[in-house]
Amino acid sequence: KWYFDDDADLKWLQGKTIGIFGYGNQGRSQALNMRDAGLEVVVGSRSDESAKKSEEDGFETLPLAEAAAKADVLFILVPDEVMPQIYKESLEPGLKPGDTLVFASGYNIHFKYIQPALELNVIMIAPRMVGQGVRDTVLAGTGFPSLVAVHQDADGKAQNIMLALSRAIGSTKMGVIESSFEEETIVDLFHEQFGSLHAIRRAIEVLTEAGCSPEAAMLEMYASGEVREIGQYYVDHGLFGQLKLHSRTSEYGQLVYARGKPEQEEAHKDHLRGIVERIRDGSFAREWTDVQANGMTALKTAQEEIANDPMTIEERKLYERLGRFSA
Ligand code: NAI
Repeated sequence: KWYFDDDADLKWLQGKTIGIFGYGNQGRSQALNMRDAGLEVVVGSRSDESAKKSEEDGFETLPLAEAAAKADVLFILVPDEVMPQIYKESLEPGLKPGDTLVFASGYNIHFKYIQPALELNVIMIAPRMVGQGVRDTVLAGTGFPSLVAVHQDADGKAQNIMLALSRAIGSTKMGVIESSFEEETIVDLFHEQFGSLHAIRRAIEVLTEAGCSPEAAMLEMYASGEVREIGQYYVDHGLFGQLKLHSRTSEYGQLVYARGKPEQEEAHKDHLRGIVERIRDGSFAREWTDVQANGMTALKTAQEEIANDPMTIEERKLYERLGRFSA
């Protein structure tokens, strides 16, 4: 079910102080949009560059715990991996019955890393838009879509508050779609994990094995910037609709030849089903929690490996040649 401006009434926010916790990608844009919508917004932040930016933008900027005590609606917009600790230590002590917690991602609630008290409203407004776009699209008059959900309705008003907030951040103009914390978690993690970067890496390895130069392979696969244009075609004309903008040879190659045999397609879908399954049964979340508990060693090792991978070394040379990185 979709909801638009006409389904949302800002009267549900009358007299409420909005707290933005984390003035980063999402926090800054959502705060500016809500202030423009006439709401009273305070920012809670640790003392860092984001807090400075918030002060420069003219927001009352308080330590996290002070802002939590003041706010009636709390947008928790710090990175997901630090959110449970910040919630426990700085936000929870300041909460009062009837306060509304707003998440921009389903992860911590779905996997129960945060378990809010039952007398709180818990909702999600998850923009399908990067932070800067949340501001820019509102200024441009289009807005952006979001996935929304109510997880806990403590005072019977959670749905109305969620729609009013969606309107205030600028999302009901394009429309918000009813979802769940679980669904948002699955689609978000799946998009990150389905393997697009490694597919490109493998393609470049195979092309160089076949005697193509790494420069030609990388320019073709992504480095020229053509993918940015094609990405915009997906948005404007549809995933396959945009093929009419290519040559017939390209259209046949992409639409027919690349599809492969039914058994190959089924094998790949089985691989993708495994990714969904490991998100759904919590295996990924457990692994990631363990990695964080072990000082992020697995992530740091992978970062070092990829930095020393032949493709990355060739890419650095190409990018220096193209003037993108300085030597
Ligand atoms: P971010 O990475 O921009 O960080 C926000 C702020 O958190 C920082 O400015 C910093 O002041 C604060 N912070 C970071 N570590 C901290 C710590 N240890 N203690 C106290 N404060 C700390 O966050 P971003 O990207 O805006 O994400 C916020 C939420 O929005 C997340 O739940 C994310 O999943 C969600 N989201 C993000 C999108 C994006 O485009 N970045 C898109 C849709 C949802």
